[in-house]
Amino acid sequence: MVLKIGSILLSLLFIIACSSPSIDNNTVKEETNSIVNSKALYTLHCEACHGMDGTKGISGAANLKISKLTDFQIKHTIENGNDKGMMPFKDLINSETEFDSLVSFVKSLRN
Ligand code: HEC
Repeated sequence: MVLKIGSILLSLLFIIACSSPSIDNNTVKEETNSIVNSKALYTLHCEACHGMDGTKGISGAANLKISKLTDFQIKHTIENGNDKGMMPFKDLINSETEFDSLVSFVKSLRN
């Protein structure tokens, strides 16, 4: 009985050991994809004013490197623009996923 449990545990360990590297690879791939996608979105819609590092400041664009906005405020700004009417991007961004990846890209520009 003890031997049987032992061998079951061993084979479980074996399965876990064999499957975990491929899980890791998938996670890395997904992360890489989402970084590429958000960067592409940012380049398409935001780079012209904010610059790739967030500091370009065209048309008085805020410096995103020193921005302290929360996720919600960033999303709200992208969606509804601001008092200068420079940023109403609601119609350009197609999905919640795109919004979320833009928000995390904006935050990745911070030091
Ligand atoms: C036409 C130029 C322009 C484009 C394109 C643009 N922005 Fe802006 N953005 C601005 C301006 C101007 C401000 C500053 C508004 C203010 O201070 O009231 C600003 C402010 C912001 C802020 C607020 C930062 C803070 O701390 O106040 C965020 C976040 C932001 N932009 C993100 C984006 C993202 C993401 C995109 C692309 C989807 C984008 N912007 C595209 C001009 C632009």
